[in-house]
Amino acid sequence: MKNTYPGFFVIIEGIDGSGKSTLANNLYLALKKQGKDCLLTFEPTKGQWGAILRQSFFSEQRLAPEQELNLFMKDREEHIEKVIVPALKQGRIVICDRYFYSTAAYQGARGLDPIRIIETCKEASIEPDLCIFLEIEPQEAVKRIRHGRKEDVNNFEELDYLTKVAHIYDQIKDECVVLDAQNSIENLTQQAIRILLERLKEKVRSSSS
Ligand code: TMP
Repeated sequence: MKNTYPGFFVIIEGIDGSGKSTLANNLYLALKKQGKDCLLTFEPTKGQWGAILRQSFFSEQRLAPEQELNLFMKDREEHIEKVIVPALKQGRIVICDRYFYSTAAYQGARGLDPIRIIETCKEASIEPDLCIFLEIEPQEAVKRIRHGRKEDVNNFEELDYLTKVAHIYDQIKDECVVLDAQNSIENLTQQAIRILLERLKEKVRSSSS
């Protein structure tokens, strides 16, 4: 469903290690500084379904693909109902770190059909007004996770798996604005703000005409 609420809905997508959470956070802070009423949120959430998913990231036995898909869908349904729609109704800018393109790419990399996932999600959930995709080579992303975060990779972050995820993102990224993750975070934040404000203006213009 299209977003017909007064608020603006932007999502940030990319593989693990792309820097998308840092970008989402910086975008939020920069917009707040400009006096915009915005909300920063993420998926999987910390709700009942998101908690089960987060636990599964480190478990020895990964959930079956359909089971995982089902949990991400339930988590999103709850997120939309309790967090996203109420904020959009109030006219706020909602910045969401991951949304249904993550489901298409990550669960698609486990053998499910990514195009079908996107179609189902578009029918069942609110479509974003803007998707920003942060592009990075999987090898570079894993390096950043290992060295930068000083953590080992989890079930979702293995190189082979992330390579498959990146390949699917590559097939679906036409629906997003693609930014090169090699740019500095300051540069990426400036680009993201500029694009967001342009789209926001377009949305206001087309809804008043
Ligand atoms: P995060 O690292 O952005 O917190 O996300 C946690 C993991 O969840 C990440 O490895 C990607 C994965 N994920 C999916 O597999 N499917 C989804 O639909 C979403 C939202 C996240």
